[in-house]
Amino acid sequence: MDFPVTRLRRLRGTPTLRRMLSETVLTPNDFILPLFAIYGEGVRNPIASMPGHYQLSVENIVKDAEEAWSLGIPSVILFGIPEEKDETGSSAFDPDGPVQRSVRAIKAAIPEMVVVTDVCMCEYTSHGHCGIIKNGDVDNDSTLTLLAAEALSHAEAGADMVAPSDMMDGRVGAIRSMLDENGFQNIPIMSYAAKYASAFYGPFRDAAESVPEFGDRRTYQMDAPNSDEAIREVLLDISEGADIIMVKPALPYLDIIRRIKDETRYPVAAYNVSGEFSMVKAAAEKGWIDGDRVMMESLMGIKRAGADLVITYFAKEAAKLLG
Ligand code: PBG
Repeated sequence: MDFPVTRLRRLRGTPTLRRMLSETVLTPNDFILPLFAIYGEGVRNPIASMPGHYQLSVENIVKDAEEAWSLGIPSVILFGIPEEKDETGSSAFDPDGPVQRSVRAIKAAIPEMVVVTDVCMCEYTSHGHCGIIKNGDVDNDSTLTLLAAEALSHAEAGADMVAPSDMMDGRVGAIRSMLDENGFQNIPIMSYAAKYASAFYGPFRDAAESVPEFGDRRTYQMDAPNSDEAIREVLLDISEGADIIMVKPALPYLDIIRRIKDETRYPVAAYNVSGEFSMVKAAAEKGWIDGDRVMMESLMGIKRAGADLVITYFAKEAAKLLG
């Protein structure tokens, strides 16, 4: 039927009609809140480029996780800022490192919360790259051993899920074997499978103190023009045992989220990264956009594209608006 018999505006006429017909539903259950765990005590360092976010020592990270839980957010993902960094990032598997301590403390305070840990070397290496450097580049295979050890130490601390973000080939398999050999066959892996070398990570690198000292991450993270390659990354990770597939960043890569959902039917997580958050905050601060509305529209867009889960610095604010 064509116009004038068909009038699509008929179903948009009132807020109640729009509510009844909304095809995509956003709830706090979709959110994972990133938190930055730092060594020390009583620390709550504001992150200048990420308003409302902090580097938190253990008792403060528990407070923020409790607040998130009380808003209906089921999960947090932890990043670590260690006291010592070295060439091989050996503090990544220190059982008393900030992530390991925070996992134990959050699980003790809120046993039902799903505590995810980011598994990567860049926060622990003195050069800021995601693995061991050989001949001026990150060496893939020797890095796998470190990543597996890091994931194991997070699982031993009580993490419910591990999320490797380094983009080394073979890391999902290496982590899966290590976890299984040590009795952690029930810990899922959320793989940052399609992670692009992106300028949108800028604010995060300040927050996590992980700016690479030389070069960039283009020899391991993906190149923006590529979409078929994302599917290859995803299929490889699935064959190695990934349980959830992540796309990162989210907003410039909504097509990748949709393709992965359509082609694999796997659970998909999207990382609404630091730059995506900070741009909205900065424009809202200047009065150029309505920050709350842009936030909700962005999150809805990510969900509509096919994401089941959204890792987002907006989690608490969005949960408040939804609640
Ligand atoms: C670690 C890691 C990064 C992010 C998540 N895990 C930074 C990077 O790859 O440089 C970025 C998250 C964000 O920007 O919010 N490798």
